[in-house]
Amino acid sequence: MKVILLFVLAVFTVFVSSRGIPLEEQSQFLEFQDKFNKKYSHEEYLERFEIFKSNLGKIEELNLIAINHKADTKFGVNKFADLSSDEFKNYYLNNKEAIFTDDLPVADYLDDEFINSIPTAFDWRTRGAVTPVKNQGQCGSCWSFSTTGNVEGQHFISQNKLVSLSEQNLVDCDHECMEYEGEQACDEGCNGGLQPNAYNYIIKNGGIQTESSYPYTAETGTQCNFNSANIGAKISNFTMIPKNETVMAGYIVSTGPLAIAADAVEWQFYIGGVFDIPCNPNSLDHGILIVGYSAKNTIFRKNMPYWIVKNSWGADWGEQGYIYLRRGKNTCGVSNFVSTSII
Ligand SMILES: *[C@@H]1O[C@H](CO)[C@@H](O)[C@H](O)[C@H]1NC(C)=O
Ligand SMILES: *[C@@H]1O[C@H](CO)[C@@H](O)[C@H](O)[C@H]1NC(C)=O
Repeated sequence: MKVILLFVLAVFTVFVSSRGIPLEEQSQFLEFQDKFNKKYSHEEYLERFEIFKSNLGKIEELNLIAINHKADTKFGVNKFADLSSDEFKNYYLNNKEAIFTDDLPVADYLDDEFINSIPTAFDWRTRGAVTPVKNQGQCGSCWSFSTTGNVEGQHFISQNKLVSLSEQNLVDCDHECMEYEGEQACDEGCNGGLQPNAYNYIIKNGGIQTESSYPYTAETGTQCNFNSANIGAKISNFTMIPKNETVMAGYIVSTGPLAIAADAVEWQFYIGGVFDIPCNPNSLDHGILIVGYSAKNTIFRKNMPYWIVKNSWGADWGEQGYIYLRRGKNTCGVSNFVSTSII
């Protein structure tokens, strides 16, 4: 009798605790480590588990915010789920805030007739102008990926040949600066940089090397190893694009993929859908590339317009390395710092 009672009690206890939250979180954490091949030292384990648990709460909150905004944006446990938001900012965002200063050259508005004639959807990936998604690693070098993405597109469009270009060339060798309000914003490898500076470097340098001849290391090199024998593309000029999403769509069609800057603080746990929750259009902390645009029906609305944005956090982040940003509301400042090189 006693044995049976004990047995029943034991089964009951296991049943209750397996449904309790602590075990559930622990198994989610184990699954996360497995999936993303995370290995922690004994001391680190508890700290990472605490951050992971707090991130589970944040993810739930973000998904609720999305529903409240009638957005189909989805957030979930991804490879950044064991990072605090400060770590995420330090490792993956840009230390240099993009400011549209008066001395930057700006392209003209496009002809209304042309703007009215552009297709409702356009994607440079299907036209061969976009290299596979790259991975900046734990290095604030997004600006260099945004720049190479644009120059790769321009080179493809003018030469009909897609050549992957070297971010490390920029990270190691480009120390160009921009002036604003008496301050300087210089390109500093993993410590951040800006696309206009990078274009200026490529123009003055006479080109940028191929990816294969100057591979990425995710570290600021101690020296510049530029070799002009391995140049993959040259540019002669660059320009900013007016802050207007209709004009941007026109330039995507007429010119190619555009380098942009945006606020990516809320992108840490993005796993899919069209990103349309509040973020700060005046804090441009990440450099990326718009490769096209489209619209889709969501459960909340018909014809939700979006930008197709190539990121540099690996193909295992977001939608195969991409994020779709709501188009037409200047979401995350998507139109505030748009640029392209000119071959
Ligand atoms: C570079 O582009 C800007 C903006 O389109 C233009 O104003 C400028 O004249 C160009 N410079 C050269 C050297 O072509
Ligand atoms: C944006 O550009 C379009 C097309 O040129 C124009 O019709 C529209 O008025 C512009 N919007 C703003 C806010 O300037």
